[in-house]
Amino acid sequence: MDTDRRNLIITGFMGTGKSVVAREVARALDRELVDMDKAIVERAGKSIPEIFRQEGEGQFRVLERQLCQELSEGQGHVVATGGGALVDKMNRELMIGSGTAICLDCSPAELYRRLEGDEGRPMLWDDDPQERLRVLLHERSRAYSEIPHHIDTTHKPVEQVVEEALAIYRAQPQMWRVHSPRGDYQVQVHPGALHHVGALLRTREITPRVVVVSDENVWPLHGQTLMEGLKASDYTATSVVLPAGEEHKRLDTVRTLYDRFVEAGVDRSGAIIALGGGVITDMAGFAAATYMRGVPFVPLPTTLLGMVDASVGGKVAVDLPQGKNLVGAFIAPLLVLLDTNVLDTLPEMEQRAGLAEIIKAGIIDDPELFRRLESEPELPEMRWLVGRALRVKIDVVEEDPYEQGRRAVLNLGHTFAHAIEVLEGYGLHHGLAVSIGMVAAAHLAELRDLCSAETLARITATLRNHGLPTQYDAHPPEAIYEAMQRDKKKRAGRLRLILPRAIGDVIIDSGVSKSEIVAALERIRS
Ligand SMILES: NC(=O)c1ccc[n+]([C@@H]2O[C@H](COP(=O)([O-])OP(=O)(O)OC[C@H]3O[C@@H](n4cnc5c(N)ncnc54)[C@H](O)[C@@H]3O)[C@@H](O)[C@H]2O)c1
Ligand SMILES: [Zn+2]
Repeated sequence: MDTDRRNLIITGFMGTGKSVVAREVARALDRELVDMDKAIVERAGKSIPEIFRQEGEGQFRVLERQLCQELSEGQGHVVATGGGALVDKMNRELMIGSGTAICLDCSPAELYRRLEGDEGRPMLWDDDPQERLRVLLHERSRAYSEIPHHIDTTHKPVEQVVEEALAIYRAQPQMWRVHSPRGDYQVQVHPGALHHVGALLRTREITPRVVVVSDENVWPLHGQTLMEGLKASDYTATSVVLPAGEEHKRLDTVRTLYDRFVEAGVDRSGAIIALGGGVITDMAGFAAATYMRGVPFVPLPTTLLGMVDASVGGKVAVDLPQGKNLVGAFIAPLLVLLDTNVLDTLPEMEQRAGLAEIIKAGIIDDPELFRRLESEPELPEMRWLVGRALRVKIDVVEEDPYEQGRRAVLNLGHTFAHAIEVLEGYGLHHGLAVSIGMVAAAHLAELRDLCSAETLARITATLRNHGLPTQYDAHPPEAIYEAMQRDKKKRAGRLRLILPRAIGDVIIDSGVSKSEIVAALERIRS
């Protein structure tokens, strides 16, 4: 499984080596190569000189635009563009927005040497090709200068250009486009992103009416960086700093937010930015979804759980005294930005709890993620971990945006966890309860012959090695079973439990009996 759907776009003037470099880069990254000119030739059923001669340059540009629109979805392709493809502003924005765009440059003299006598280049059909080349280069220089990355290829061997292109690509933020029925949105994993928020809002034509919602713990640590990042692009945002904690995730607090939005004059051309953990994301997101029937929303999650879980998937909610997350909405954020640098200040307990959700993602659908957490003595880089776990969540929510089927798999361990949290009066951290719940689910799977004893042992050991609990005896199995019966996600009176069959493979099981659940809970009593 690939972690990343950014395209890598290689563009530049004819003769700069786009096709060869793109081919080699695609090979190194093991990605599909799309050579735009070749794709157009295939679709049109004729060569480029023939298209130009028979249908004119206009028709060629139409085909090019169509292709750019398709590629802008961002499917992790390596794209070699036609030389003129990104001269068009719309094409350029589509492609730059789909990933990392690199322009290959070359001196005019060297270019002429490379292109001399090539009849397959209709743009150079002229009595004086050298002069024509100079004019074309000049005409296109402005458009090329707007491509974010450049590599000078003059006198460089192809291998070196390929190395440089790979280095640029790898240093860029990871980026995904999430498809959702309420609109697609981008998720970027980008250490240091707080500094660039303003620029990113600018390209999305957000007006200066911006409100930042944060909590009293996060704001003193990261508020200033964010405000500076906004100011750099001339945004003077209003900030609202709320008290921290789940107990504030309720309608009265949302009411305060509405008042502040009115004061700040926010409307649909502005945006609400959430700087905080899942609590802030949920609350600010719910306020943004409902204020004026929806204003643009940008979550900047600051906890590991907020990054891999609460910030994508489009669900936002607040609690009622009767239960958690009972009032909420579905929303498509404008953009989700994950600045993994903010995790440096995260308390150790929050870090560990977030790791439980990352291990969960591995068990659901990413054996490689699980394997690294299982076997490596050091924790892999945060940006890698977050990217992999996020990938799992994105895949699932894209398939089931309104939580009607497959999305239930994200609840691995959660039916047990919610019951334990209720019995503990929410005194046990959610992530720790999820860890216990996953072990219970693995026992249940093993009892039902769905998974091997080895899979059960691997899950238990990996959680334990990361400081997460794998046993629970504070409440008897019967009491946990009773609390599980109040699960919100029951269907037709039956519990739907997520059980592992192997690492990376889980199923939804509605046929589990009470005695099996109790037996699994007995096994984790110590
Ligand atoms: N909408 C969804 O899809 C979804 C999914 C999962 C969870 N949630 C919700 O998320 C909430 C839990 O989120 P959470 O675990 O992030 O809790 P949280 O938002 O309460 O954050 C945990 C604590 O860490 C502090 N904190 C946050 N970032 C910090 C940082 N970078 N440095 C120092 N301190 C920091 C917070 O102030 C808070 O005290 C729950 O309300 C849950 O319902 C929502
Ligand atoms: Zn959870």
